[in-house]
Parts: sequence; structure tokens; C-alpha cells
Amino acid sequence: QMADESVNMQELLISPLRLEPQPSLPLPIDLFGTHAGARKNSTGLDLTVPAMRAPLLAALQSTAVPAVATANVAEVAKAFQASQASFAAWSHTDVAARATILRRAADAMLADTPSLCAILVKEAFKTWGDAVSEVREAVDFLRYYADEAERIMQPIAMPQVHGATAAAYTYGVTGETNTLRLTARGVWVCISPWNFPLAIFAGQVAAALATGNTVLAKPAEQTPGVALAAVRLLHAAGVPADALQLLHGTGETVGAALVAQPGVAGVVFTGSTQVAKIIQRALAAKDGAIVPLIAETGGINAMVVDSSALPEQVVDAVGMSAFRSAGQRCSALRLLCVHASIADGVIEMVQGAARELVSGNPADLSTDVGPVIDREAYDNIQRQIARLTKEAKVVVQPAANEQSALPNLIAPHAFEVNSIADVQAEIFGPVLQIVRWSGDPSEVVAQINALGYGLTFGIQTRIDSRAQALAHAAHIGNVYINRNMIGAVVGVQPFGGEGLSGTGPKAGGPHYLYRFCAEQTITVNT
Ligand code: SER
Repeated sequence: QMADESVNMQELLISPLRLEPQPSLPLPIDLFGTHAGARKNSTGLDLTVPAMRAPLLAALQSTAVPAVATANVAEVAKAFQASQASFAAWSHTDVAARATILRRAADAMLADTPSLCAILVKEAFKTWGDAVSEVREAVDFLRYYADEAERIMQPIAMPQVHGATAAAYTYGVTGETNTLRLTARGVWVCISPWNFPLAIFAGQVAAALATGNTVLAKPAEQTPGVALAAVRLLHAAGVPADALQLLHGTGETVGAALVAQPGVAGVVFTGSTQVAKIIQRALAAKDGAIVPLIAETGGINAMVVDSSALPEQVVDAVGMSAFRSAGQRCSALRLLCVHASIADGVIEMVQGAARELVSGNPADLSTDVGPVIDREAYDNIQRQIARLTKEAKVVVQPAANEQSALPNLIAPHAFEVNSIADVQAEIFGPVLQIVRWSGDPSEVVAQINALGYGLTFGIQTRIDSRAQALAHAAHIGNVYINRNMIGAVVGVQPFGGEGLSGTGPKAGGPHYLYRFCAEQTITVNT
């Protein structure tokens, strides 16, 4: 159902967050979802401007989610052969030409922002703000990996001397000509999730294609339509049809069949830790080459708040990180560790802030929190909520009628638990757990490290040396100090975790593309 402009235009896309009790300081509030606002939104779209909203709302009416057909195992094998056959031509296409094609696709994607957003709203239940941010991120991935491929795929004359004068240089003068170059590996399998069905999909595919690999992509079965829309743009921009093929279906069938193809050169996967390990085992069990896996998985992401922290900033960051995007970001805050001396006040403000968030139809411009992706996710989250309702202290629990307004809608929840060690599973929804701490903050970080995940970490303190010490003590990939902990910006905040959270290298960072390449050293006796 489309939002009624005349009513909703007045409303709150960026209405101030009303906190209870009212704080005395001005709030660093950015409810729209992009902490740094327009600076990081390369779509240039600002939903507070009516002229910019209009095409989005029109697209909601005019855009249908593209229908897809599920692949069978025979089709997977056939697609693999075609991908292998297309590898020679694509990998020998000049890197500048591949980059040009990706940039052309990025421009087309940007131009198609309204219809892509409409698909994201209808298919993935994204809010408009999240949808615009996601298109922005997908465009950034295409452009960034195009630039990066051009940068790193130039042959390097060896040795390269860093920081030493030629005179001080002691290793390896051979009297020969030595050249190091990167080459494409072959056919990559890209398996992407439903929570960023355009951005992560486009990022994986663009990384593999930019480096000269060919791609078999399996988007999440919940969100195939937006992937199809993206592939149409990539093909129209010049990616050969066989070099980028989409295979639709579940992980158990199509995903498993793709990973099992003999000769797969690499797999890039974003999803659960459990499935990453299934893929890793399947690759290890195959005959033939050792196949690289890039896995980006989940996290039990924590934020440590000390007694010097600014409560208003904490609560803003918590609302954004724990509840926005319905908590369905792998980066989302799951565990708030707040110093006992300020815990009562912070918890009261979290309650007030959570109540202000509007849960509802994502097509409505006023909605902050849309439904979770499907019934299975809803049931899993509700099971965890039921468990926490019994085992923990309820901090935020909406009335039953607020929760049943739409299928699969879960309004923000928060619970106070006794210890960090009580939190053993990622709850992939708008459910926050809170724990009070006192004593040594580095002990708190040690307990967070002991959970084994390492994706995102928030630190709220006005003691700079403490912030740095805690950041350095954390075995965690992305650390955010005195701000929210979501929405890593491509090319600026390389994103990805360690431990149970993934293999690295970081997406949107300068090391990512190397993993998609083989290296070749050519030595000539001159
Ligand atoms: N890259 C996204 C973020 O930083 C994903 O989960 O929030």
C-alpha cells in the first residue's frame, strides 16, 4: 500500500527522536539512517526533499518485482560449463575495459534508483531510507572495485623497495628481470544474502568480474528479483551473458550444486557462520585444487559504554544500531554493556527512544522499522523473545496489538541480562540485550572477545586513551567510537570480521580484490 503523500509529507522522515526524560543537551540525532548524512549518500537523493521523494513513490506504483525461475542441478552444471568457456575472453579483456563496463553499470544503477528502491521495499521490506542507502552502496561497490582492479592489476617490476635507499638495500638483487602480476582465477560462485540483496550481491559480483573472473551468482531465495534487475543492468552495460549468470534456488539445492562443481575457482559467501562452515567442508572434501573461500558471517556485536559517555549520543547510536533495518544487519548492535553508574538513566532513555520508533509498512515514508524478512525469521526471533521474556528482565516490550499490525512485524525489544556470557546466539532482529558492568573495562572486552565473534564493536567514552586501548584489545574487525556501529562506507570504512564472523579480506577495502586473484612471478634471465 503506497503512503499518502499529503499526510506523510508532513511527517517525520527526520523527525527528532523524543527521549524520555528529555535530555538537556542538543541531540546528535540522525534518524534517517546515514550517520554522516548526504556526504555518504552518493545517490544524491534526500528524502526530505519532496521533489526527490516523488519519483520513488511513483516507482512503487509502476515497478513490479521481476519474476524468476528456480534452477535445477542439470542447469547448474550447464551454466558452469558456459562460465568456464567464457573465462578466456573475459579474463583477457583489458582491465580498463572491464572497469569501464562496471562504471557504466554503476551509472545505470544510479539512474534506476527509484525502481530498484521500489523492488527493495516490496521484496525485502526495506524502509525507503534503507533502500536509498543500499542503492548507494551497490553503486559505490561497482565503482570502487572498478578503480581497485585498475590499480592492482598493473604488473609490478620487482623488487619493490619500501623506505630503504638503494644503497641500504640488501636482499635479492638477481640481475634478472622480475615481474609480479595478478591474474584471474576462473569461475567464482557468489552466494549473497537477503539482508543486503542488492549491495552485497553487487559487491561480490563486481569484485569477481573486475578482476577478470567469471561468475555464477546465487542470490538468497527470498530476494531474487532485485538481483535479476541488477544483472540486467550489468549485461546491458557490456558484461557478457555467460560471464555473469544467475542461478536461483535454495542454498541446500542450488547453492550446494554450485559449490560442488568440479573446477570452481573460488567461493564468496555472506550469510550464517554455520553455512560458511558447510561450504568450507564441501570445498575441502572435493578432489582437485584447494579452493579459496571468502566468508562474511554474523556477530554478537557489542557496545561498551563507560561512565564518562554522553548518554544522548549512546541512545542515538543504540536506536540506530540495534533497531534500524529491523536489526537485520550483520553489523547490528546485539549487546549493550553499560557502566552500572549510568545504567538506570541510559536504560530509561533507550525505553523512550524505542517507543518513538514507528514500526509498520515499509512503503509508508514514516516507517522506521519494517517487517522481518519471512515467517521463518519471525518465528526464530519470537522464540528468542519468549525465552528472554522468561529468563531476563524486560526493558522494552511492545503491546501485543502493536506487534500484530502486519505479517512478520516485530517492534523493537530490549532485555536486561546478567552477564555477557549469557548471550550465546545472534538474534537477527530488533532485539537488544543489555548488561551492566563495573570494574575494569578491559575485562569487559575480554568477555566480548570470548564470545568468539569479531564483526563490529562500539565504544562510548570521552576518555580518548581508553577508547584506543579498548579498540586495540578487541579481536573485532570494525570498531566505532562515539557513534553508531552500522553502515560502513565502501572505500572508506573497509568492512568485515574475524573469528566466527568471517575470513576477511574486508569488503570495500584495498585488500579485497587480491583474494579473487592468483599471483604470477615472471623471471627473465636478461
Ligand atoms: N556493511 C553493512 C554495515 O556496515 C552490513 O552489514 O552495516
